[in-house]
Amino acid sequence: MNDLITTVTDGFTSRFGAAPAGLWSAPGRVNLIGEHTDYNDGFVFPFAINRRTVVAFGLRSDRLLRVASSFAEESVELSLDDLAPENLAGWSAYPLGVAWALGQFGADLALVPGFDVFIDSDVPIGAGLSSSAAIESAVAVALNDLWQLGLDRRVLARVGQLAENRAVGAPTGIMDQSASLLGEADSAVFLDCRTLEAEVIPLGFDAAGLELLIIDTRVSHAHSTGGYASRRASCERGARMLGVTSLRDLTVDDLDRALDVLDDETFRRVRHVVTENRRVQDTVRTLREHGPTAIGALLDASHLSMRDDFEISVPELDLAVDTARGAGAIGARMTGGGFGGAAIALTPSALIAAVTAAVTAAFAVRGFTAPDLFVVRAADGAGRQQ
Ligand code: GLA
Repeated sequence: MNDLITTVTDGFTSRFGAAPAGLWSAPGRVNLIGEHTDYNDGFVFPFAINRRTVVAFGLRSDRLLRVASSFAEESVELSLDDLAPENLAGWSAYPLGVAWALGQFGADLALVPGFDVFIDSDVPIGAGLSSSAAIESAVAVALNDLWQLGLDRRVLARVGQLAENRAVGAPTGIMDQSASLLGEADSAVFLDCRTLEAEVIPLGFDAAGLELLIIDTRVSHAHSTGGYASRRASCERGARMLGVTSLRDLTVDDLDRALDVLDDETFRRVRHVVTENRRVQDTVRTLREHGPTAIGALLDASHLSMRDDFEISVPELDLAVDTARGAGAIGARMTGGGFGGAAIALTPSALIAAVTAAVTAAFAVRGFTAPDLFVVRAADGAGRQQ
């Protein structure tokens, strides 16, 4: 974290020739359970992680927006007068998309001043840990302060989601930005994606001697193309055919009827979402009543549902999950949108090294690219840094 603070402060000063007015940061997230339920108005249970994006901002006296980062050589410049989704491309679409989206949520972009921003991050890109939501949320809290907008964090989450949907072009839900904005240390966020009511629930991993191991398969994925959008379309079709506003309105008792009405593929997509919503609620209850050691079976069941019903896993994710379980993890599943990215393995601290070695060896035997394994902790959400 201190490294990032130094890089963005120095980066800002050398790129823009003055010290920044302030620093803000926001974390990536990992989803403990509740996958592809957010855009179905359902439940999710993610947490903010101890990997962050830090942004240094300075306000300008004109209407120019200048964006620079330590991961791109060039700076991008645009006038506030030209801020529109069709004028945004590449990585700068994330920060500039947020500036545009704030205008859609009440900021008067005709009146606000321009800005310079320098960005750096240690959230791994493409690992399914929401490096993009971390940028969006950091920029959203910063501009909310600097432009004195007074927007609530739930609104800022919708701002980030709108930027992602319209400026970046990925039809994603509200989970990632909500976790990044609402997360708290050692806790996960139980979010109702219909009402955006959120409850912060202590995880108790430390007391139970557990850690959450990330297994980044390094199979890259993009949610602006292909599978993610087609899964979303299947869910919408299923809801339409069953006469409900969204799949959130169904329970497992409705699945018999769904079986009669839907084709096999749509039925399995619907069954995943309906049972996953149930598993999220069961996980929260189990965690409260019996602690984290008792949630392993729910994580395992979630993975099978994504592998067989929703069909968003890949061989590397299945191998990661199976091997981690075999080496002593108490529960494991792919996390995030799927088609690559990372798996999580809830693992006793004493077995982290053994699970890491087993997964690494299994990938080598299958000839897969070497995975990256590391432990994450639940951290605080977005905020002002200094
Ligand atoms: C991606 C999206 C989220 C969510 C997950 C799947 O991470 O950004 O909105 O849909 O996939 O649960």
